[in-house]
Amino acid sequence: MEVIIRPTAAEAEKLTARIIADAINAKPEFKLGLATGATMENVYAELSRMNKAGEVDFSQVRSWNLDEYVGLAPEHDQSYRYYMNKNLFNNVNIDIRNTHLPDGLAADEEAEAARYDDSIDEAGGIDLWLVGIGCSGHVGFNDPGTSFSSRTHVAYLTKTTYEQNKIYFTPPESMPRRAYTAGVGTVLDAKKIVQLITGKRKAAIAAAAIEGPMTSMISSSALQLHPDTVVILDAEAAANLKLRDFYDEVFQNDPKWAAYR
Ligand code: PGA
Repeated sequence: MEVIIRPTAAEAEKLTARIIADAINAKPEFKLGLATGATMENVYAELSRMNKAGEVDFSQVRSWNLDEYVGLAPEHDQSYRYYMNKNLFNNVNIDIRNTHLPDGLAADEEAEAARYDDSIDEAGGIDLWLVGIGCSGHVGFNDPGTSFSSRTHVAYLTKTTYEQNKIYFTPPESMPRRAYTAGVGTVLDAKKIVQLITGKRKAAIAAAAIEGPMTSMISSSALQLHPDTVVILDAEAAANLKLRDFYDEVFQNDPKWAAYR
């Protein structure tokens, strides 16, 4: 696991966008895993800017998102399909038919979850999955207790996640308590994982996930198992990390990061 700390959220977001853009430019038929949430909004704004400036081309990119609420139509302004169209897909030259999220209105939930995993497998797997972390330690909606080998499934959301996200709903109680999520195992199958964590409200959970023991109580800690994970944090989110100085030393001296410093 590589850990990079940037002084500000803006710098962490820009670095994240650059790593994704460089990976796409190196392999245009890219299979990109995506996440939603407040953390990612500026990453998508930066990727949109880069696309308009000719710095990254999404024309052959195919994408899969981590999750979607059960029961929300794509047009619902809190659905993750709506978020992705608004924050990224409508602003770049991706073919919308190549963008995938679970169908929140699918009649058969098990079949929909299996279809989603199959669509990733048929495409040859995800090249890079961009993920965040929730205050519950989740990646996707894999709240505490989710198996590290889980595949895409419908999850009942914990109170922590409900409290974190219901503020976006009007009224707040209308937030669905169930959602499709790619499993921890689905995410671990990606060839590369890039995790972005910003803000002081994430400092405690970031330290537990990155430097604490692996446990299904913090699904993000499963990323420690992955051979190619980069975690990018701003200084606030990194505040509780014990090896902060070491991570900085690596980023400043390892030649592989020279272009990104
Ligand atoms: P946030 O959500 O970016 O809105 O904090 C992240 C998450 O819950 O995974």
